[in-house]
Order: sequence, then C-alpha cells, then structure tokens
Amino acid sequence: MHRWLPAVYLKGNRSGCEPKLVVPTPDRGAYTCGVILIADKYSSFAPLYDLMSAEIPVYRAGRKLGVQTLDLHPGAQVLDVGCGTGLNFRHLKERIGPAGTIVGIDRSAEMLAQARRKATRQGWTNIILVQADTTTTPTEAIIESITSQGGLPLSDAALATYALSLMKPWEAGWTMMQDLTAPGGRLCVVDMQDPTSRIPGARALARLACRLGGADITAHPFAAVERDCIDVTARSARAGHLQIRTGHHPAS
Ligand SMILES: C[S@@+](CC[C@H](N)C(=O)[O-])C[C@H]1O[C@@H](n2cnc3c(N)ncnc32)[C@H](O)[C@@H]1O
Repeated sequence: MHRWLPAVYLKGNRSGCEPKLVVPTPDRGAYTCGVILIADKYSSFAPLYDLMSAEIPVYRAGRKLGVQTLDLHPGAQVLDVGCGTGLNFRHLKERIGPAGTIVGIDRSAEMLAQARRKATRQGWTNIILVQADTTTTPTEAIIESITSQGGLPLSDAALATYALSLMKPWEAGWTMMQDLTAPGGRLCVVDMQDPTSRIPGARALARLACRLGGADITAHPFAAVERDCIDVTARSARAGHLQIRTGHHPAS
C-alpha cells in the first residue's frame, strides 16, 4: 500500500507558492514548494478512501456529532485539520452556508485532490485547501497560504476528525489547530479509542482497522480538548469507539 514518492523540491518565493506543501528553508524568507518523501498510504488509496473507510456504518456518526457540537453560524470560517477527501465538508456547508468558508489542511496532495473534486462536483464555493504537514510547518506559512487564497488568518472554529491520532506527535497538530483559531472560537476533536462493546472481537477489529489506517488508538488526542478548552461538551458513539470533544478556545 505504501508508495514512496521521490523527493522533488521546486524552489520559489512566497508569492510563487501555490497551495502546496509549504516548508521553511534555511535561507531566511524564502520558502520551498514541493513534494516531500512520504510513505503515505493515504496518498496511495485516496480515490478509494470514501469507499473503504467504513464511513456509513461507523465513522459518519462521529463527524456528524462533531459538526453539530461546533455550533457554527452562517458565514463562519471553519478549519478542517487533516481534512482528507473532504468527508466533513457536506456537514460543514449545511451549517455555514454558501457565504461560509472551509479551510482544509492535509499533507497529502492526493487526498486534497479528492476534496477539490468533491467541492467542484457539489458546486461548493469558498473552499480553501492547503497542503501542509501540521506537525512541522510554521503557522505563519500556513496563514500566508490561507490569506493568499482569500481566507482570514484565523478561523471561527476548527475540527479534526480521525486525523490527530495519525500525527506524530499529535500534540503538534493540536497546537497548530489552536494557533489557527480565533480566541473564543470552538475547537472539536473526533477520534478513536477501544470500544467497550461486549461483542466478541469488536476491540480486536477496531484495533486492526486503526493499525491499517496508521492511527494510534491509544493516543486519545480528544483529551487535549478537556485539558485546554473551556465549556467542554463530550459525546461518544459506536460503543465508545468514537469520542467527540468540543470546547471554547480560551480567549487569551
Ligand atoms: C484517517 S484520514 C481522516 C481524513 C478526514 N479527516 C476524515 O474524517 O475522513 C487522516 C488524514 O490525516 C492526514 N494527515 C496525517 N498526518 C498529517 C499531518 N502531519 N499533517 C497533515 N495531515 C496529516 C492524512 O493525509 C489523511 O488525509
């Protein structure tokens, strides 16, 4: 399943950077746009992701609860960290309407291409896509990419569904998520843990699915919302396998 991409770097200045991977280079002020060496299974099976990810029987329930608890208003700008193929977009658009903006960030160009396709097919406007590794890319570089595509530097709300548990370290992705959200905005993490179901094999199956997807089922990144946010709402679904935490980003 893994595909090793060649390391191809195209040097450019800030204005020349398309919404691709943006990483800083040692020569101050300049940026490098390009493709990094990734053993990224999501790039390899991006076209099949929606079909193979048990979306309808399992994972849709979590994203719907997550979007519900974000309490979005029409016209809001919402950040989707590790957005993948954009499976959250429909649920977000229902809430923020045509005037609202979705900012999707993902490190995989192939997953983002699927997200773009979905948006075009559905006629959704105001979809900003940024290719970046949220654990290593400087916040300013991501903000620059967002604003160069017409977005606001900080979003009104942010969510990450089934994404932080793949990031190493996930705390860096969580920090980025907070840095890109306006003080007082809503933050939501939807992720996985062992199910409490008594159905024989349920726990083993959940662990296997997470391992195949590259997620660490023991990471529990949703706990960071309880630690760092205020007015936290907790939900769960699918025998506790899906954990949803949403709270207010404390105003600094
Ligand atoms: C399991 S998929 C979830 C996608 C989407 N959030 C969903 O709910 O369907 C995880 C996504 O996180 C992305 N990802 C993993 N590590 C990342 C990182 N460090 N920075 C940005 N995206 C990352 C992967 O490329 C993949 O698209």
